[in-house]
Amino acid sequence: MIAIIGGSSLSQLASLQTTHRQVVRTPYGEPSCALTFGQLSGRNVVFLARHGYGHMHAPHEINYRANLWALKAQQVRHVLAIGSVGGIHPGLAPGALAIPDQLLDYTWGRKHTFFEGPDSPVVHVDFTQPYTPGLRQCLLDGALQAGLDVLDGGTYACTQGPRLETAAEIARLRRDGADMVGMTGMPEAVLARELKLDYACVAVVANDAAGCGTSTGQIDFTAAGVVMEQAMVKVERLLATTLALGLYH
Ligand code: HPA
Repeated sequence: MIAIIGGSSLSQLASLQTTHRQVVRTPYGEPSCALTFGQLSGRNVVFLARHGYGHMHAPHEINYRANLWALKAQQVRHVLAIGSVGGIHPGLAPGALAIPDQLLDYTWGRKHTFFEGPDSPVVHVDFTQPYTPGLRQCLLDGALQAGLDVLDGGTYACTQGPRLETAAEIARLRRDGADMVGMTGMPEAVLARELKLDYACVAVVANDAAGCGTSTGQIDFTAAGVVMEQAMVKVERLLATTLALGLYH
């Protein structure tokens, strides 16, 4: 079973042949929404809308632990996570896609581990490579096959939100080595690692980050909505081709 987590502008997958939906409860509370099961390119897929149907949950309010736990409970081993970002790298203009290979975490106050509380062992998971290299490669192979231009690599900076960043904050992120900025990449990626799930991200550039490119004065979110709708057509193609090629093990 392969999981797809959809972000803003992807609360459902048009190409998924849905078989059923299921409400799942977890020891960590309720996931963002019911899980949707179906087939995509002949593979069994479970889809989860990260913000819920109707975009109810803000990035800092998402129950990431319940989401990942619910997917693991469906015998999922691979998670393909879609997330919208602001572009910092000059090659990441609105509408571009990237498969990041590194992560900077600026979030705070989120439930970011399964290993807490008096009964929990002390565990330090390795997170040198936050995205599973083999699963990233599957997406890159899918992109090549589909004739889609995607940036191979890049550092995803995860901010707390829900507000957008100041131009000075983006300048700092750039100095830190960030290529793109989003609000939902963490703790999702590390919780997947704690559950031993393979995890890779498709970052979809909605807008130039604050102070960059077209966003020197302010960020035009109306334009970003249109960009995202168009980019999601590419994302659906990327997912369909990647799954058609087949994932490892
Ligand atoms: N900043 C943070 N998260 C985002 C942005 C941004 O500019 N665009 C889309 N998600």
